[in-house]
Amino acid sequence: MSDRELIREAIQARAYSYSPYSRFQVGAALLGSDGRIYTGCNIESASYGATNCAERTAFYKAVSQGIRSFQAIAIVGGKEGEDLELCPPCGICRQVMMEFCSPDSFRILLAKSEEDYEEFSLKELLPLGFGPGNLK
Ligand code: THU
Repeated sequence: MSDRELIREAIQARAYSYSPYSRFQVGAALLGSDGRIYTGCNIESASYGATNCAERTAFYKAVSQGIRSFQAIAIVGGKEGEDLELCPPCGICRQVMMEFCSPDSFRILLAKSEEDYEEFSLKELLPLGFGPGNLK
């Protein structure tokens, strides 16, 4: 699975974004250690707080199918009808990543296109994160 392919999957998943309130459409493609891809889009709610981000949609799909180990995630976002912009994951999504991913090796790809993207580790985006290891 190449980075390009993962980003392409995220772009395709974004097409399903349900975001009538913000008109900000996000897509994510999560690569499991099993080599399979779990996609997600943001799903908004008239009760705004019930909104779910694209990243968490992807994680919850995977975890609810028994997959708990992941290699990478590609994230794309932008206003409906406009070019993609760099879309960093929100704090809650970073915390969910911390639950299931290695801070050192989990790769987070923030993409504007298949060719134009930046890569971060979870540790870079959530330094000194609190995770399962802290409760051992
Ligand atoms: N959103 C995501 O899906 N992922 C992010 O990383 C940032 C924000 C969504 C939530 C909401 O539907 C919209 O973008 C605006 O906040």
